[in-house]
Order: sequence, then structure tokens, then C-alpha cells
Amino acid sequence: MGKDVIIACDFSSAQAAFNFLDRFTEEKPFVKIGMELFYAEGPSIVREIKKRGHKIFLDLKLHDIPNTVKKSMAVLSRLDVDMTNLHAAGTVEMMKAAVEGLTREDGTRPILIAVTQLTSTSEQRMQDELLINASINDTIVKYAQNAKEAGLDGVVCSPLEAAMVKSACGTEFMTVTPGVRFADGDVGDQVRVTTPEKAKEIGSDYIVVGRPITAAEDPVAAYRRCVAEFVG
Ligand code: C5P
Repeated sequence: MGKDVIIACDFSSAQAAFNFLDRFTEEKPFVKIGMELFYAEGPSIVREIKKRGHKIFLDLKLHDIPNTVKKSMAVLSRLDVDMTNLHAAGTVEMMKAAVEGLTREDGTRPILIAVTQLTSTSEQRMQDELLINASINDTIVKYAQNAKEAGLDGVVCSPLEAAMVKSACGTEFMTVTPGVRFADGDVGDQVRVTTPEKAKEIGSDYIVVGRPITAAEDPVAAYRRCVAEFVG
């Protein structure tokens, strides 16, 4: 399992994404395409970025009835993405259907990870509005265990939750962690953050980094710094 830095390409148009990616002349970073860019440009954005030689994490967070998720995952698999995701709240049955849909005829499939509880959901709101009478940490661990049971490869979580997930699901179970900031950088709207070095220490397998790279004066240098601190 390769540790890697994934750049969150949170741009609103293909042109803006290409202008950014054009700056990388030596390396081909792993990139995350989220809902904004995908809904603006459609599947062609995935094909175009793939054609440029990048690995792609398509972050669409599927959550629907098992049959719909299965069929949608088959479409994403044909798009040849390298990683994609869904909401663990869709149940083990939905996650199993997703694995089935994603698996190609030759038995290969993109990496599939689950969102447990979004980091924007507080324990208070989870209990008051969703009527989940457990702690948020117990919920995250249970959803991660459900994802493992369904045959998924890992979860998206905050770096601060990664150790907890690893100890409940094993070190082979992947943790993909956003919320990464350089020690001397701006935190922005992220609340619970870690440095790339700390994420490495905690055992994250992939870090997802957006603005510290995309908004940097020299994005290539910022990307290289991330790789050096996290992988190197
Ligand atoms: O710019 P920044 O580094 O904060 O970007 C982080 C990326 O990770 C964004 O695309 C954001 O939507 C995503 N993300 C997150 N927290 C989560 C799940 C996804 O920040 N819990």
C-alpha cells in the first residue's frame, strides 16, 4: 500500500483545474475530484485528468439504495478512477452492493473507502438531530468496522481519528485523512488539523491536501514539501 499525497482539486471549472495542473511539469500528483468540479464538468473531467497521467480519487460520497449504488459504482469503475467513496450510513448491505458494482470482470476494482461521520457533524447534532445515542467516536469505529465487514478498503477520517480506526480495524485498513496544514501555515476553516509529518506518525495512508497547495504562491514547492514530510 503506497503512502501518497492527494491534492484536493477544488476548482469550479475544468479550465481552472487544468491551469493548476499545468504547473506540474515533473511529477503527476494523485488528485481528488469532488462534487463541485464533477457536477460542473461531468465525467469528461475525469477522462481528461486521467489522460494527463494523474491518479484520481473521485469524491462523490454515494448514499442511496443498494441497487442504485451498485449500478452507479459500475459506471465509476468504467471511468477508470483509482479511488472512490460512499457514506457508511448507507448500511453494510449498500456497501457490499457498491463493492460488487465496482468490481470489474477481471476481478480488479478501484480502492473503495467510506465516510463515517462527516467532520462537520458535531456529537451534539448527531445525538439531537439524528437520534444516535452513542459517542461520535464509537459511531466512527462502528461505521469503520461495518465498512471492513462489507469488504471496503478503508475510511476517510480526520488524522486524529486514524489511530482509533487502525486499532479497531487493523493496520492494513486504510485511513485517508484531510485536515492537513503545514506547521507554519494558515488553518483556514479546518478545526482539527495535523501536519503532514504528524499524519505520517499517526499512520495515515493518504493525506488529502487542498488549499495549502492550491492557494500557495508556489504550488509545486508546497506539494513537494508535503511529499517530503509525509512520504520521505
Ligand atoms: O483545502 P483543504 O486542505 O481544507 O481541503 C480539504 C479537502 O478535503 C476538501 O476537498 C474537503 O472537502 C475535503 N474533506 C475535508 N474533511 C472531511 C472530508 C473531506 O476537509 N471530513
